[in-house]
Amino acid sequence: MEKVNIFIVEDEAIVAKDLSNTLDDLGYSVSGVASTGPDAIRETSKLSPDLVLMDIVLKGPMDGIETASHIFKQKGTPVIFLTAYSDDTILRRARITEPYGYIVKPYNKKELHSAIEIARYKHTMENRLKESEEKYRNLVELANDGVVLVLNDIIEYANPRFSQLCGCPNERLLGSRFSIYINPSYNHKPENRYGFQNWNGIRTYETILCNHNGHTTPIEINAGNVTCRNQQADLLIIRDITDRKRLEEQIVKTEKLESIGILAGGIAHDFNNLLTAILGNASLALEKLQPDENLHKLLSKVQEASIKANVLTQKLITFSNGGNPIKKTTSIIEIIKETVDIALSGTNVSHEYSIPEDLWPVEIDKKQIAQVIYNITVNAKESMPEGGLITVRTQNVLPAEQEKDLLNGSKYINISIQDQGMGISKENMKNIFDPYFSTKQRGAYKGTGLGLSICHSIMKKHGGTITVESEKDKGSIFNIYIPAATRS
Ligand SMILES: Nc1ncnc2c1ncn2[C@@H]1O[C@H](COP(=O)(O)OP(=O)(O)OP(=O)(O)O)[C@@H](O)[C@H]1O
Ligand SMILES: [Mg+2]
Repeated sequence: MEKVNIFIVEDEAIVAKDLSNTLDDLGYSVSGVASTGPDAIRETSKLSPDLVLMDIVLKGPMDGIETASHIFKQKGTPVIFLTAYSDDTILRRARITEPYGYIVKPYNKKELHSAIEIARYKHTMENRLKESEEKYRNLVELANDGVVLVLNDIIEYANPRFSQLCGCPNERLLGSRFSIYINPSYNHKPENRYGFQNWNGIRTYETILCNHNGHTTPIEINAGNVTCRNQQADLLIIRDITDRKRLEEQIVKTEKLESIGILAGGIAHDFNNLLTAILGNASLALEKLQPDENLHKLLSKVQEASIKANVLTQKLITFSNGGNPIKKTTSIIEIIKETVDIALSGTNVSHEYSIPEDLWPVEIDKKQIAQVIYNITVNAKESMPEGGLITVRTQNVLPAEQEKDLLNGSKYINISIQDQGMGISKENMKNIFDPYFSTKQRGAYKGTGLGLSICHSIMKKHGGTITVESEKDKGSIFNIYIPAATRS
């Protein structure tokens, strides 16, 4: 085993010699001796000893206490003081330099040995503690979750991620009340509010974080009890769950649409059978009447209404699971251009395309995808009654460029249809894909509110998705994503 290197700082040569011999006897190696503070600082910096034995009273410009403080700052070398006095003022001064021990002269061999071993043990343990503290500090400071220590609702510690979530610099967070960052109107269970202290073990719950600008973020809190200044405090791990919430909402919406789809499809199917009988019999009866007869006019209205009802049931069937796509690999460029041109012909709305030639082929049911593009374009047109511009863009989307959670890591093509119309309010945004949700009044008729439900249903059957970005009075962008064909 390597010997422990000890450096002696002692201005009396005889004492230094005696100390050196004793250390030698005890199995230590003396790496050097200095008699003044400046020499000691210079030599220890060169030799890096494991420990320094330091006489407090030294001749020259610095005493042992000042010298020890320099040496400790230099490389964290542990220092044991040797002193003939145990004077209170001296000891108080010495304590500031965090010494690893004192030996009162005259010392005996045993005392010297145990003081050195205790100092070395303390130094090793302190180093381990420092390392471990640094490791955990880094973990907490770099964590992607907020970490907060709360004592009696006061923030004692907050990591950078929590400052970021609160939109507030760390200095301002410390000492402020934690509860002001939690939305009071959120539907907490009473025990979940901020009454953490009454709980033992880890608790997990969801709530809303409000930052300084009034921005809210859904969060999940994992709370555990820790001791802080002899009191029970709460250690909170705070996770931003915006993405998870969005995904949950999407799943609930999809499930809701699916069950409505089954119901609507079933009814539409039976209803269609009844309509066939109504339409068929109305046509037969009409053939038996002269066009100028009163009954002929009445029956014509029955026939007209039945045809409209038939169009409606067809829409419902497409929306429900009935309209399974018949997919073929194709280039979509022609379909887009034809459909948009038809949807906008004879209107005061102009349109432009940004469609690269190298768009990947897709595997689609042409009629159904044309229906999606048609419905979205008609909505865009209807959002600009005074006229305006619709921009249709397409692009290939590589897995690396995809929006998180939206697409499943395959290649997609994206069709984006942008209008400059009235936009969609935050409130309506939640409902636009719901069947029968419509804000349109066309004379005596309302919109059926089936357009976007049908788009959603068709996109789902194609393994794609549809998203919307819109703000009231700021226009809308509808994006559809269709998986690129794996075979051509
Ligand atoms: N581009 C758009 N700009 C503004 N609002 C839109 C746009 N697209 C859809 N909406 C809103 O979404 C609602 C639902 O659209 P959807 O296409 O499902 O039904 P609709 O257009 O009202 O009726 P239908 O399509 O059956 O004629 C609309 O009533 C409208 O409020
Ligand atoms: Mg519509």
